[in-house]
Amino acid sequence: MKLALFGQGGMGGLVEARAREAGHEIVAVFTDRDAGRPPSELARALRDAGAGVAVDFSIGAAVPDHVAACVEARVPLVEGTTGWAPRLAEVRRTVESGKGALVYGANFSVGVNLFYRIVKVAAQELGRDPGYGPFLEEAHHARKKDAPSGTALKLRDVVAAAGGYREVPVSSTRAGYIPGTHRVGFDGPADTITLTHTARSREGFAAGALLAARWIGGKTGVFEFAEVLDQILGAGKE
Ligand SMILES: NC(=O)c1ccc[n+]([C@@H]2O[C@H](COP(=O)([O-])OP(=O)(O)OC[C@H]3O[C@@H](n4cnc5c(N)ncnc54)[C@H](OP(=O)(O)O)[C@@H]3O)[C@@H](O)[C@H]2O)c1
Repeated sequence: MKLALFGQGGMGGLVEARAREAGHEIVAVFTDRDAGRPPSELARALRDAGAGVAVDFSIGAAVPDHVAACVEARVPLVEGTTGWAPRLAEVRRTVESGKGALVYGANFSVGVNLFYRIVKVAAQELGRDPGYGPFLEEAHHARKKDAPSGTALKLRDVVAAAGGYREVPVSSTRAGYIPGTHRVGFDGPADTITLTHTARSREGFAAGALLAARWIGGKTGVFEFAEVLDQILGAGKE
């Protein structure tokens, strides 16, 4: 693949390293120095570089412009950045009206996407018992800018929808170098049931992003990584 990267921090740097190891070419890198460049200019740079697919791990505020640039340049985009969920409808319109291609996910780890499914089943079961109240806890490294994490927001939606809960309290911790821990709990009068996903490193996110980059080639539309994995793992959607 001929890859363009938006963001070259912790995640962008790791994607770059793993992509090069796998024999892919990095043809363009956009960093905070490119912040404020209009999408049409970024689109021209993407085309000039001959990018075949772009991967974005930057900051939420820059995502709509990165999406617009990729749509204009006809370059499919793997969007790993979090903190832009309120702008999803606008981004979707940009991609669909321009016949672009976008795969996005708050968490590209295969394990976390399987965790979503496990949590869904747990919430379906426990939601039937009014004695249990759900809660969510997440912890990440001190440099992480958004809180709660995009993964926690997705888990909150999964628990609320599957369990029929109106509210799911979420608490966040930012400290040290924690790669990412998410704990879903259901607290009852006699006991607490918890499910925990602990990322050991950021490798799983980079591997998932490269998997999505290979998958998105030749497609049009907006896809959530969880759906993509369902297809790749052959499990299908319920
Ligand atoms: N989906 C997933 O699986 C997953 C996994 C981990 C992280 N994330 C998300 O990915 C994002 C990046 O995480 P990270 O840990 O890599 O953060 P990071 O280390 O802070 O890296 C972000 C990079 O983006 C650069 N940047 C800032 N504004 C930009 C712009 N307008 N255009 C291009 N680049 C720009 C930053 O440059 P400066 O440092 O010079 O400002 C920095 O190099 C966050 O939203 C995080 O939550 C997602």
